[in-house]
Amino acid sequence: MRVLGIETSCDETAAAVVEVSDAATERPRARALSDVVHTQADVHERFGGVVPELASRDHLQRVLPVIDEALRKSATALDDLDGISVTRGPGLVGALLVGVQVGKSLSAASGRPLAGVNHIEGHLLAVLLGDDAPSPPWLGLVVSGGHTSLYEVRSLGSYRALGHTLDDAAGEAFDKVAKLLGLPYPGGAHIDRLAAEGNPRAIDFPRGLSKRSKTELDFSFSGLKTAVLHHVREHGVGNLPDLCASFQEAVCDALTQRAVRAARAARLPSLVICGGVAANSRLRALASERCAAAEIALYLPSPKLCTDNGAMIATAGALRLARGERAPAGMSADPGWRL
Ligand code: KG4
Ligand code: ZN
Repeated sequence: MRVLGIETSCDETAAAVVEVSDAATERPRARALSDVVHTQADVHERFGGVVPELASRDHLQRVLPVIDEALRKSATALDDLDGISVTRGPGLVGALLVGVQVGKSLSAASGRPLAGVNHIEGHLLAVLLGDDAPSPPWLGLVVSGGHTSLYEVRSLGSYRALGHTLDDAAGEAFDKVAKLLGLPYPGGAHIDRLAAEGNPRAIDFPRGLSKRSKTELDFSFSGLKTAVLHHVREHGVGNLPDLCASFQEAVCDALTQRAVRAARAARLPSLVICGGVAANSRLRALASERCAAAEIALYLPSPKLCTDNGAMIATAGALRLARGERAPAGMSADPGWRL
């Protein structure tokens, strides 16, 4: 199946053409023929965060050129497609609506079927685009700017939420701490780079799980963010690499500890880490170490597959279309859609 994927849920306008074989089985293979991402980072940078109104406007300007480029780079005409897939939620409503309307229009114009997919499912299935992918069941840790969640992937298309962040997402914590330290937006990659030169044991930041968690598989990062703020107020920034490394260690320690605990509790043989924060070098190293010790097979999609992209949306949509699912004619965006 050849599917066009369109993603506009937050601050990336993305489109990709993906070819999926054995799409209706539990071992599908996906390959991106093109994968075009236009990031709006420069639009939002001076505000230190995503401004929803500006995001919608920029998507509106970029979405057709980005789709054109994805089709051209894969030498695909609309008529060559077996389907179109678009992110329906969760995300910013105005941003989502741009992709949903374009997807519906292209589907109506070409007569090709349309799938409306969940952005989180896209992140979870991005691993199918890599060289090496597990078969279900597996544990998925989704860590991005908007989400920090653990899912049991029971089969492709069937997910059970095991834990969530009770406050900030991990990427949000990275970005907020980076802003506090005067680093550019989005700050996760800057902290990662600076931390490489620092001592992760220089400052002992809290890892505390929120008392509100019933399962011990939830996350909480707002206390850590406040602890960094208090530290800076009391002692100043001091050695910036040490501060970055210590903060990053606290986040990665909590994420990997909970993921290993969840995999053990649900007896899942493999862990897939996805979402923008999965690009973090310390998270990748610590997860490798802890999964090896716990005999859990670890899958880490390449950083390009971890951050928002159209290929993951095309893949998730291809599997749904292959199972006969079709977006209803009246489909709209669903900004709060839970997987
Ligand atoms: O998945 P994504 O591209 O967009 C969302 O769906 O949110 O994730 C973006 C997030 C941002 O918070 C960014 O700071 C973070 O991923 N990020 C990183 C790194 N690269 C991106 N965080 C830590 N270390 C990195 N290397
Ligand atoms: Zn995302």
